[in-house]
Amino acid sequence: MFPSSEVYGGLGSAWDYGPLGVELCNNVKQSWWRWLVYDRDDIEGVDSSIILNRLVWRYSGHEATFHDPLVDCRECKSRMRADKLDGYFPEGGHALVKGEANERLRAGRVKCANCGSTNLTDERYFNMMFRTTLGAASADDDPTALAYLRPETAQGIFINFLNVQTTMRRKIPFGIAQVGKSFRNEITPGNFILRTREFEQMEMEYFVRPDAEHLKMVEEWTELYVEWFKGLGIDGRNLKLHEVPKEELAHYSKRTIDIMYRYFPERPEEERQWEELMGIAYRTDFDLLSHSSKPVDEEGKRLNPDSTEDLSYFDEPTKTRFYPHVIEPAAGVNRTVLAVLMDAYSERTNDKGETRVILKLAPQLAPIKAAILPLAKNKPEIVGMAKAIKRSLQPTLRAVYDDTGGIGKLYARQDEIGTPLCVTVDHQSLEDEAVTVRDRDTWEQERVKVSELTEHLQRRLAR
Ligand code: GAP
Repeated sequence: MFPSSEVYGGLGSAWDYGPLGVELCNNVKQSWWRWLVYDRDDIEGVDSSIILNRLVWRYSGHEATFHDPLVDCRECKSRMRADKLDGYFPEGGHALVKGEANERLRAGRVKCANCGSTNLTDERYFNMMFRTTLGAASADDDPTALAYLRPETAQGIFINFLNVQTTMRRKIPFGIAQVGKSFRNEITPGNFILRTREFEQMEMEYFVRPDAEHLKMVEEWTELYVEWFKGLGIDGRNLKLHEVPKEELAHYSKRTIDIMYRYFPERPEEERQWEELMGIAYRTDFDLLSHSSKPVDEEGKRLNPDSTEDLSYFDEPTKTRFYPHVIEPAAGVNRTVLAVLMDAYSERTNDKGETRVILKLAPQLAPIKAAILPLAKNKPEIVGMAKAIKRSLQPTLRAVYDDTGGIGKLYARQDEIGTPLCVTVDHQSLEDEAVTVRDRDTWEQERVKVSELTEHLQRRLAR
């Protein structure tokens, strides 16, 4: 990953993914999509617009509540999210009452994360949605042209609930998955790709009956995701669960469990080593009901006078109509990539006492599956054979050819980017039609017939 816009001095906390980074991200997304949409029978996929009708964000509650409290430190001039600071929440974990946060700030009970000072301003609320205007002729402040970049992919799923359910003839329980970019004007982005203003989400809304065991289902989905992360090569000891306290729940959630990853193992205090990798929330029927045209208040007034659709579901067996409830596992692509990278990083010392970096990525995530290396680059027959092998493998698996160094250097380069297998073509290969296959993690080598190579590599990569 490269700092974005580097030729102009960069853009704070924005990152561009290079040739290997994009492959790693794609592999994470593909693994997720295969696991949920292909391997299960109860989940469909969608790809909704990033810019939606502004009303989506009004009725989802984001216009009114998707904001964070920010404070400034009068001493060191840094700007921070107030609710992330020591002393912001009262001891005992009860919810803050109106005005209590500012009382605590003024009483010096909240500390600046940067310099430790308690000389902080009052908190101010800041809506995190990025604003834009639609149409070439619209003025920047024209409210009728106002639109937002989506801050979550979830709403694109809710507003398509009926489209998917009816066209795919689905009965609940079933889920809808979406992967794509989301945007939040974070007050304090940072820590590499952990918190950025533009990021990618993998979200799934699982629609269930109103009387299902929702709270238990949150736990079930949490367990499934923990196993999925382990399958990506993440060590279970670097994962832990966090039950989000009531006062910190998002406006739509009745229960949320966060899966935390140990992103900061270097921090001395165990508590500060963890950060959210993803969250699993019980969103009730909040979203489908909010976007529906029919629900009314006690006086019979429509709650949503702008909607033209009723997103309710008719349950054939019970002949009843209701708004399905939702369990939502919401994961971040970038945070998953960061966790995977951190867990895969290892070092090993070779016979010469040199330390080598080995990225022990699960084969399914490795950007390159096999590197084809000629032992002598000045021997046209060896080079020709190596290039032909690379071309023959490419339709089946991602392979590269490299002859820009001695064999030791070529191996080290592939180890460092996590390529599970290297294939070396040597002088003997010209006679016996066989090559050497070297393993990234053990450095062990094996002689394999070229005619059996594709199958051999596929078998090894599937382990
Ligand atoms: N629809 C629910 C939702 O968006 P969230 O906990 O706000 O829930 C889900 O976001 C996941 O998206 C997070 O657990 C994290 O992995 C990722 N995410 C959220 N904000 C992010 C940011 N600023 N940078 C990187 N990833 C982010």
